Amino acid sequence: MDDHQFRQLLNHFGLSWDGYRRVRKGVKKRIVRHMKQLGCRSMEGYLSVLDQNQEASLHCERLMTVSVSRFFRDRGLWQTLENEIIPSIIRDHPGTVRVWSAGCACGEEVYTLKILWQAIEGRFGPQPELEIWATDMNPVYLEKARAGVYARSSLKEVPEAIRDVYFKTMKKGKRYAVSQYLKKRIIWQVHNLLSNPPGTGFQLIFLRNNLLTYYEEALKAPAFQKVVNALDQGGYLVIGTHEKIPPGVQGLLSLSRHPYVLRKPQEVP
Ligand SMILES: C[S@@+](CC[C@H](N)C(=O)[O-])C[C@H]1O[C@@H](n2cnc3c(N)ncnc32)[C@H](O)[C@@H]1O
Repeated sequence: MDDHQFRQLLNHFGLSWDGYRRVRKGVKKRIVRHMKQLGCRSMEGYLSVLDQNQEASLHCERLMTVSVSRFFRDRGLWQTLENEIIPSIIRDHPGTVRVWSAGCACGEEVYTLKILWQAIEGRFGPQPELEIWATDMNPVYLEKARAGVYARSSLKEVPEAIRDVYFKTMKKGKRYAVSQYLKKRIIWQVHNLLSNPPGTGFQLIFLRNNLLTYYEEALKAPAFQKVVNALDQGGYLVIGTHEKIPPGVQGLLSLSRHPYVLRKPQEVP
């Protein structure tokens, strides 16, 4: 498949060339296999099958997803969360803290947050209940997330001391399984970010390396606004370190030291 054909497919789903440029080789391979399974010889033929066959279209959309992630991705962010953002959320919400990890892939970000929370409890004693909604449009990734077993490469940013406490070594150190107790109170759900959010009133939302990277402006802006609407007043939104919010989005302040952590202002009484 050449780049022109790949661009035709991206346009079909409102996906961005810039987002896919670096990962297109692997994605193309999966799509070529799907085209063969459906007996399609040209991109035009394939697109017309996708137009007529909802199941094939959904399958293709899932094949287009990229699940690259790792524990403690962007270490600086996790330090900011541990030292500033989470303590401030905990202060204001002593009952339950609600978090949404949107486009969570295989759960690395979700379990990283659970590890941080455990560390804070270890230091300061019992904390509010933590309820995490972890969603992704690809159910295959969510299955892997539920299982919680990872290759060593996913843990390359995890300090050894943390790895020893929260993971069990499998296959002589080739695989690592997260501890069972990290899996509590996580609601894994198939969800497309282009549809309505799975809830509202979240104190913290992670929207990293998905919507803002892989989608064209026309789809990105309205979907992003819906995510912002799902934030509680005073809630925090975390985006990827290479991402920018779409122009014209209302109701967010940037914390200047950390341009990828945004805040929805508190309502003035
Ligand atoms: C590169 S991973 C990012 C994972 C994690 N957020 C991180 O930053 O490490 C992108 C994930 O977003 C998901 N994704 C992409 N488009 C989506 C959409 N429209 N709705 C829900 N999930 C989506 C993909 O399935 C994939 O699991």
